[in-house]
Amino acid sequence: MTLSQERILATEIPGPRSQALQARKVASVSAGVGTTLPVYVEQAGGGILRDVDGNQLIDFGSGIAVTTVGNAAPRVVESVQRQVADFTHTCFMVTPYEEYVAVCEKLAALTPGSHEKRSALFNSGAEAVENAVKVARHHTGRDAVVVFDHAYHGRTNLTMALTAKNMPYKHRFGPFAGEIYRAPMAYPYRWPGGAEACADEAFDAFVTTVHTRVGEDNCAAVLIEPIQGEGGFIVPPPGWLPRVADWCREQGILFIADEIQTGFARTGDWFACDHEGVVPDLVTTAKGMAGGLPLAAVTGRAEIMDSVHVGGLGGTYGGNPVACAAALAAIETMEVEDLPGRAREIEAIFLPRLRALAERHPDRVGDVRGRGAMLAVELVADGPGRTPDAALAGAVHRACAAQGLVTLTCGTFGNVFRFLPPLAIGNELLAEGLDVFEAAFDQAVASDQRGKVE
Ligand SMILES: Cc1ncc(COP(=O)(O)O)c(C=O)c1O
Repeated sequence: MTLSQERILATEIPGPRSQALQARKVASVSAGVGTTLPVYVEQAGGGILRDVDGNQLIDFGSGIAVTTVGNAAPRVVESVQRQVADFTHTCFMVTPYEEYVAVCEKLAALTPGSHEKRSALFNSGAEAVENAVKVARHHTGRDAVVVFDHAYHGRTNLTMALTAKNMPYKHRFGPFAGEIYRAPMAYPYRWPGGAEACADEAFDAFVTTVHTRVGEDNCAAVLIEPIQGEGGFIVPPPGWLPRVADWCREQGILFIADEIQTGFARTGDWFACDHEGVVPDLVTTAKGMAGGLPLAAVTGRAEIMDSVHVGGLGGTYGGNPVACAAALAAIETMEVEDLPGRAREIEAIFLPRLRALAERHPDRVGDVRGRGAMLAVELVADGPGRTPDAALAGAVHRACAAQGLVTLTCGTFGNVFRFLPPLAIGNELLAEGLDVFEAAFDQAVASDQRGKVE
């Protein structure tokens, strides 16, 4: 890695060159494509993003959970360079190539369950989710799909319908695809009957939703993120996910796990479903799988995936050879470097510090949650009142950025501060990033309190 693993503040953030590029962006890119932090990157690796002004920022976002193996990870670079020099595209459906097959073999070996599996490759997470729904409907001959409150599954027409949150994802983009039904999510921190009752009550509410609003026999699939991502890093209570999966199986309803954000080592297992031994019928993957190149997959039971007629699945670019070469190298890196284990180490570094922060600010940190290197704090205005405080999350985010730390927020109410560091980040940068975050948090809370007094 040529990039020094140190935080450098060479200019204000964003610096003058980034500001000039941002002006060009505003004049040429649709306003609909937002910018979380207008810092223009020219190099990245390990836990560092280097911008065009010479600033080096610590990366706690991984480009939204993508650069799990690190940016420009050495094996990925080498594999992509080799592949791009060999050939860049044939279209797998026209004249195939080994790399696609090898990725599907890896998916069969690594995704939950030891049954026979088949995969199909696509370009984006949303496309994988769309295809999982296509396959489920085709196989079952049923139409309805059940999703959950706070779900995020993408921005295409069908996946907007599956996604829960209106702004910014759905607002005035309808009408949406039909036959989508929503059940309450088992969200312990905000469950009306309290966290203790959440597993049982949320299971009952789910069953009631399917039974009364859909009808078991009309239901093709239940689609869920085993830990919800954009909706707020919501971890369901122990036992709930296996109960939902078992119940689906009893009803002939396919259980689809959307592991696009949680998959490939992020949560300390290969997949978040592994944590409770849940074996989905279909799994969608993307993000971390290919080290930053666009690749996504649907993997599922052979009899389900093979029920589709020839030509029913595919696309021009799906499983592009360069993206597949990247995925094979990224997966090898995860295996050789035990990145699931690394995610658990990162959890062990983060959690005590996040819990200490919550103790220091009991009125502002309502909940600390997550698993592996997918962790979050939910920010509130009034402790036990649990009023979401998106303004505080935004203030902490801006204060972190000013000090050279890239962070992300999420949540239906915009009040969840999430941590998704690359697993290639070193412990020193992790500790330094946490120092910056804690100082930013203290500062944002203090200035908020001053604002209330004045
Ligand atoms: C759980 C989940 N599903 C689907 C998607 C959509 O993936 P993409 O942005 O690649 O279309 C995302 C993206 O954040 C996601 O987190």
